Amino acid sequence: MIARTYRIAPSILSADFARLGDELRDVIAAGTDWIHFDVMDNHYVPNLTFGPMICAALKPHAKTADGTPVPVDVHLMVQPVDALAAAFADAGADYISFHPDASPHVHRSVQAIKAKGCKAGLVFNPAAPLDVLDWMIDEIDLVLIMSVNPGFGGQSFIDSALRKIEAVRKRIDACGKDIRLEVDGGIKAGNIAQVAAAGADTFVAGSAIFGQSDYAAVVRQMRGALAAVA
Ligand code: DX5
Ligand code: ZN
Repeated sequence: MIARTYRIAPSILSADFARLGDELRDVIAAGTDWIHFDVMDNHYVPNLTFGPMICAALKPHAKTADGTPVPVDVHLMVQPVDALAAAFADAGADYISFHPDASPHVHRSVQAIKAKGCKAGLVFNPAAPLDVLDWMIDEIDLVLIMSVNPGFGGQSFIDSALRKIEAVRKRIDACGKDIRLEVDGGIKAGNIAQVAAAGADTFVAGSAIFGQSDYAAVVRQMRGALAAVA
């Protein structure tokens, strides 16, 4: 097993929306690596969250105490994709991922994200096949596997995602590119090691972190579980 760098990406979907700036500072101070922005349009998914203006407002807070920028990992659960992807790129997104079934021209949508200087990712719902990776894996920087049905935080992890993570890990290792394998939904301190063992290296956690009073304690628990992964 190659030594893998693990990243924890708290999803602000479960944060206190009345104090998002403070929440970002607190969760970064707790030792997390990326900030996961769950963008929902009440069309592609049955929920509505936040737009590029919130991203632009929070971007200055996405940094550690010593000023090191923390990547903003935008997950677009929207249809159409391209206009909002461009707006989030202008708002400071570092990673922009979208669901391939939400774009009629996946390759062009990925090219447009990269042309804006952002890293591009594709997101796969629990029942979605991986076929598009046959043609896209060399174009992207991130694969995001949904281990819940998109739209809400606090759901239970869907076990079949483990097999999909294993399949994506094989594809990434075979292509030899430095591609992040991120998993999103139902991640807890109690299952993060199993998800890492399947091949994931980046973990979205919303309710598991923001649902607790001591963010640093949860992050320590998660890091401890990851350290034990062979
Ligand atoms: C669901 C979102 C997930 C969600 C994760 O549509 O994409 O990022 O916020 O929340 P938890 O960690 O609570 O399952
Ligand atoms: Zn997400």
